[in-house]
Amino acid sequence: MNKKILITGGAGFIGSHLVRLFVNKYPHYTIVNLDKLTYAGNLENLKDIEGKPNYIFEKGDITNEKYILNLFVKYKFDGIIHLAAESHVDRSIENPMQFIMTNIIGTVNLLNASRKIWEEDFKNKMFYHVSTDEVYGSLGETGFFHETTPYDPQSPYSSSKASSDHFVRAYGNTYGIPYIVSNCSNNYGPNQFPEKLLPLFINNIKNNKSLPVYGDGKFTRDWLYVVDHVRAIDKIFHEGKIYETYNIGGFNEWKNIDLINLLCEKMDVALGRKKGTSVKLISYVKDRPGHDKRYAIDANKIKSELGWEPSLQFEEGLVKTIDWYLENQEWLRNITTGDYKDYYLKQYGKC
Ligand code: NAD
Ligand code: TYD
Repeated sequence: MNKKILITGGAGFIGSHLVRLFVNKYPHYTIVNLDKLTYAGNLENLKDIEGKPNYIFEKGDITNEKYILNLFVKYKFDGIIHLAAESHVDRSIENPMQFIMTNIIGTVNLLNASRKIWEEDFKNKMFYHVSTDEVYGSLGETGFFHETTPYDPQSPYSSSKASSDHFVRAYGNTYGIPYIVSNCSNNYGPNQFPEKLLPLFINNIKNNKSLPVYGDGKFTRDWLYVVDHVRAIDKIFHEGKIYETYNIGGFNEWKNIDLINLLCEKMDVALGRKKGTSVKLISYVKDRPGHDKRYAIDANKIKSELGWEPSLQFEEGLVKTIDWYLENQEWLRNITTGDYKDYYLKQYGKC
């Protein structure tokens, strides 16, 4: 069946992988990628599919109510997969209002526009909202986030995402908009902006810069390769049940310091440096305020109901990621100028 699908945030990290997958896998769909191209959005991420006949890029801002409504009237989308967001916790601590605007107001604008163009005939329509496991808050040493875990967000970022999740469900409950929400754990892989842990540390090791480990380094995250995340979104979008939530995770928990030690080992090999060179760059710094201790996803629902599992072993994914960054130094150079330098200086005190 032909479909017009809107993907928001498609020039960012996860969105660009999703756009590529959909454009290549579904030539009979029209994929419209809507992105404001903030510091985190980069059309270079999608150079390989630019000329495809089923792909359209629209530069625009989801917080602009009028613009969004006009776009929806123009295209009459059948489905929306919503990823556009402010996504970095440290930036949300610095500037929460930007997160409230984009993540909450932007999402509500998309919901209002969907309601308007679908005009209560919701057959074969879908509002798919991409969210994060951070909405569940922080775990102790044991236990997992299940789909039924009560929300308990702790940072301005996760609070804004939690709020947007609530609005999506409220619009389903109140107006009947068919929706699905998925909550995923930490992603890693090519094209991630080097403010997040792995690309930041890969870039710093390459340039012999210190590796700023927050607090005691014993904070735990559950890591998933980005291509496995977008495979899960594809599966859920096409086979998931409306009004349901799916948790997506890698069954792959790491304490930050263990992950950083492994990264240092792999970087020594990749750069042809003597074993033990990169690890000397580790420097413990002041903790992030309100730092969530541990995230761990129970991804058994998507596994048993939809047959999805991560395809990559973590070490394999990590090496692929390292290789991509080392082979794409120009991509890194192009985005680590100007604004990025200011951000780095503010966050870490030196450049
Ligand atoms: P990202 O920061 O790399 O990309 C976000 C994209 O949204 C960028 O291209 C940016 O230009 C665009 N954008 C921002 N504000 C916009 C606006 N007002 N209008 C239009 N476009 C705008 O983020 P990401 O890591 O790819 O995350 C994508 C989504 O997945 C987010 O909703 C995030 O909450 C969620 N998520 C991320 C992770 C992760 O580990 N990165 C994990 C789970 C869920
Ligand atoms: P991050 O990639 O920012 O993802 P999130 O906070 O959304 O999980 O950080 C991953 C973990 O790494 C988190 O526990 C914070 C820690 N971290 C550092 O120790 N130093 C850093 O410079 C950064 C960016 C993160």
